Amino acid sequence: MENPGFYNDDRVDGFEKVTGRAKYTADHRLDNLAYGVFVTSTIARGAIKNLILSEAKNSPGVLDIIYYQNCPPVPGYKPYEKDPNKKGFEWSGLKIFHNNLVYHYGQPIALVVATTWEKAVKASRLVKAEYITEEFETDFEKLRKEDSKLKKIGEYKRGEADAFKTADFFVEGEYFTPIETHNPMEMHATIAVWEGDTKLTVYDKSQGPKGTQSALARNFGLEEKNVRVITEFVGGAFGAALRSWPNVPAACIAAKKVNRPVKVLLNRKQMFSMVGYRPQAWQKISIGAGKDGKLVGITHHAISNTSKYEDFTEGIVNASSFLYECPNVNTSYKILPLNLNTPTWMRGPGEATGAFALECALDELAYKLNMDPVELRKINHATLHPVRKLPWSSKFLLECYEAGKQKIGWQNRPTVPRSLKEDGMLAGYGMGGGVFGAGRGNAAVKAILMKDGSLILQSAVSDMGPGTATAMVKIAEAVLKMPASKIKFMLGDTDFPPGPTQGGSTTTSTLGNGVSLVCEALKKNLKETAIAGQAAFSSLGIDDIEISNEHLISKKDSQVKISIADLLKASGKESIEMVQESGRAAAEASKYAMNSFSAHFVKVHVDPVTGAIKIKNIVATGDGGKIISEKTARSQMIGGAVGGIGMALTEELLVDHTTGKYLNDNLGSYHVPRHTDVPPIETWFPNMPDPVINAMGSKGVGEIALVGFAAAVANAVFNATGKRVYKLPIKPEDILG
Ligand code: MOS
Repeated sequence: MENPGFYNDDRVDGFEKVTGRAKYTADHRLDNLAYGVFVTSTIARGAIKNLILSEAKNSPGVLDIIYYQNCPPVPGYKPYEKDPNKKGFEWSGLKIFHNNLVYHYGQPIALVVATTWEKAVKASRLVKAEYITEEFETDFEKLRKEDSKLKKIGEYKRGEADAFKTADFFVEGEYFTPIETHNPMEMHATIAVWEGDTKLTVYDKSQGPKGTQSALARNFGLEEKNVRVITEFVGGAFGAALRSWPNVPAACIAAKKVNRPVKVLLNRKQMFSMVGYRPQAWQKISIGAGKDGKLVGITHHAISNTSKYEDFTEGIVNASSFLYECPNVNTSYKILPLNLNTPTWMRGPGEATGAFALECALDELAYKLNMDPVELRKINHATLHPVRKLPWSSKFLLECYEAGKQKIGWQNRPTVPRSLKEDGMLAGYGMGGGVFGAGRGNAAVKAILMKDGSLILQSAVSDMGPGTATAMVKIAEAVLKMPASKIKFMLGDTDFPPGPTQGGSTTTSTLGNGVSLVCEALKKNLKETAIAGQAAFSSLGIDDIEISNEHLISKKDSQVKISIADLLKASGKESIEMVQESGRAAAEASKYAMNSFSAHFVKVHVDPVTGAIKIKNIVATGDGGKIISEKTARSQMIGGAVGGIGMALTEELLVDHTTGKYLNDNLGSYHVPRHTDVPPIETWFPNMPDPVINAMGSKGVGEIALVGFAAAVANAVFNATGKRVYKLPIKPEDILG
């Protein structure tokens, strides 16, 4: 089948993806490839006393079994023994096979390397471990109440602490969110290939090939230029591939030791115990307002879990200090180390957890005030960033409220909970607001204009799914006014100029600015080439020439024109290559607050007999600045809403506190939303360009698509049933009980 080409906003890599031609990390087949499979701990804390390997070693095809006693030295592990001068050199994350300590159940303790995947799997099951066990801690709900177990991370105060108590009305609530896992379709995988002792090529599932490259260079004591990371396609990540998990160092260690390429692919179960997750959290939030609805005070405390070997923190309470106008705010954040693997960023990190509490509490307050919840938010709309006292670069949140209300049919929302019935179901409406940082980081992009007039753009980034190449092609198309079909964006290789890690909703903003710059530079170069070498253009200035439809045209006389292909031919150039670097928006960030905003609206039906919740309709509105690609931006919002449905209603990783083991570490019992859980989703964007952040006017939509969504569902459930649920996921028994 031939690629039929793409139209409008279709994904430029859609054909490769849906036909199975796209190569994800584990799809790469290399000559002489060996396979590594992890053996994992079956205790939650202690030490390995003895690994019994004889049976596994004699199993067919086994090349080696690597564990703490025979693991070659890893330079990046050394600072672990404490060298304060070498900070930043150390491998961040679990130092696998470094010693015999066990910090959590499911920790990798050995890697069986064999000639085939099946043989490695078989032999891995023959490894037996003897342990010295120690008492472990996994019970977040129990241990968070013991202050001595907690590590203080941050506090913030503006005005008076606990001023909510002095307000005419206030609400207080404790909110509980479980561990949530990313569960992308593609599982983490790494293939490592050494050339001698100094050159390393790694195929890896990564949101940031450059970051993986520098982490590996440091860890294995190599020069960065001698480490190449390839990530052509990523099958979903949601933050899970923002850093490297044990598969990455393990593949490199093993490939060196057995002297051939090694592939390490996690299985689904290992995706739970070796890859991070959204941490479990407890929050207490208290909000007070005057009779007029004006906020008087917000107090927000949060605790989330981390592991025993790393501190993971996220901004759970941050948005409470700046999303709304409020004179008195105090927040605190602590973490609780547990015998679990380290959490990590997951879509809308921190904010998604915090917004559940903040946006539910505001809803509760609105009922106390007998006020529409949207009205309450409008009354407290902040026009200056309340912490930084700076204007926002752009903010079109009020427009989101209005569009959301209109599209969901907010006028049908009952003001009295449990008063609307439809088809025998309790019906209700809810909304929740969201926010996330926007900004612009560093990116370099190379442009190669070929003599046939086609354009190749390159940058060392990867695309976990939002459609990076599609958006970049659209940006180049707009700047150069040339057909998108002649533009190719290449990514997924650290040999390309350095691009950003895909995270924090900043890829389009950061990388797009680089694309915009290099296309502008290319335009200038073409105009100069024409002025220097073409008689008809020689009297013109740069500004007298426009480029459109693959031609340079005089603005003074449209008859004076030359095609880009002819210009290259005439100038004797095979191609024009240029690289542009786009820097951080640092000066801008000192003058403006930069955020994307969202408002999610949800309509639910709740069965009064069973308590079953059915989301009937979703309207997701988001101020992400100028929308570059309508279709992929819409898909981002839909994806965020689906993730939000999971957060609100289905997803929860459970820990068995008698063993420290995850109870539902598989997709059969860890429930992501099914198609039948997902109703029609309408999206809306103000689509107003941000005048500050970058050349395109875009901000970002990746995180705001999720942040605030779960609160919208909980608020709709309250509106339908009169039952306020403070614990996610919301279950039928929470409503009936
Ligand atoms: Mo996202 S959690 O920044 O990948």
